[in-house]
Amino acid sequence: MKTIIADMTHGIDEGMMKKAGQILLDGGLVAFPTETVYGLGGNALDAEASRKIYAAKGRPSDNPLIVHIADFDALRDIVKEVPQAAKDLADAFWPGPMTMILNKNDRVPMSTTGGLSTVAVRFPDNEIADAMILAGGGYIAAPSANTSGRPSPTTAKHVQDDLDGRIDMIIDGGPVGIGVESTIVDLTEDIPMVLRPGYINMDMLRGVLGEVRMDPGLHSADPNFHPKAPGMKYRHYAPKAPLTIVEGPADKVVAKIEELAAEKEAAGEKVGIIATDESAALYRHGTVKSIGSRAEEITISMHLYGILRDFDDRKVSVIYSEAFDTPKLGQAIMNRLIKAAGHQVIKV
Ligand code: TXA
Ligand code: MG
Repeated sequence: MKTIIADMTHGIDEGMMKKAGQILLDGGLVAFPTETVYGLGGNALDAEASRKIYAAKGRPSDNPLIVHIADFDALRDIVKEVPQAAKDLADAFWPGPMTMILNKNDRVPMSTTGGLSTVAVRFPDNEIADAMILAGGGYIAAPSANTSGRPSPTTAKHVQDDLDGRIDMIIDGGPVGIGVESTIVDLTEDIPMVLRPGYINMDMLRGVLGEVRMDPGLHSADPNFHPKAPGMKYRHYAPKAPLTIVEGPADKVVAKIEELAAEKEAAGEKVGIIATDESAALYRHGTVKSIGSRAEEITISMHLYGILRDFDDRKVSVIYSEAFDTPKLGQAIMNRLIKAAGHQVIKV
């Protein structure tokens, strides 16, 4: 299949958008930008389209998809009921990087929800995404547009690297603004529970909902203790080279990574180091890349997946990263980084 690349980096191309809508209505797949990461869209109400998404990504079919809408009222038509908490969350954070889990109704096929009776729904804050969702029928199932197991795509180029020839169209809307996937809030529990941390953090959620819990399965390194979101149990977000995180006071972290990098280089390995604008100049060994500035957290989340892909391209054989426990986005960033590292963390 020849994948059409639609350049919308300078605004929506109406002709191409119409074509994208038609592809989706016909059961095809279109990758598109959102404010978090690029998504791989298909008609969420068409069981066959969902199956195509799983096949294109090589994704296990028990891992449910998020249904994207571009109008709050569309929610009513795919869930059993809209609780007050859902209205409150939507008022506060939609359109935006927040996904809610609710009980689904019969319009949503089981192949979209991986066999679950609940459905994840999100209204993205991106004008290309919203126009495409409406053009494609209003309900677009979309996982991140990467091959299963690779870091999520934050540019159209990343999508092309993974899925060229396997999907009908890629809409290029330029680099994304947030860089980590949406916060997932499960409203089917007695107390709302966060299944995946994201830009909308616990403080923001508590400001709207009162009591909110974090899924205890998320913190566990024990492979027998599963998080509730099926996708969170996989070791995805992973770069090809083994990654180790070094955590502690800034000067000690730099010293430890320097020591480890020197050892590895002496043994003939090619070392990649994930540093920040504040620390990059302090390293003498390895290929050093700054992920962003600690003074501006969003620059760190924005570049996280791109830097992991970049080290894959440079064929480094081992990667060391500083920890990024920043105040607002730290939980979301470290959730991904720790998974990418397969829980390899050295404390100094
Ligand atoms: O920011 C995002 O959410 C991006 C963009 C494209 O919108 N999408 C995304 O989709 O990250 P994906 O498929 O890569 O991740 C969806 C996560 C998975 O961990 C999945 O297991 C979980 O959501 N999920 C989906 N439906 C669920 C449900 N009914 N119950 C529990 N977890 C669910
Ligand atoms: Mg994903």
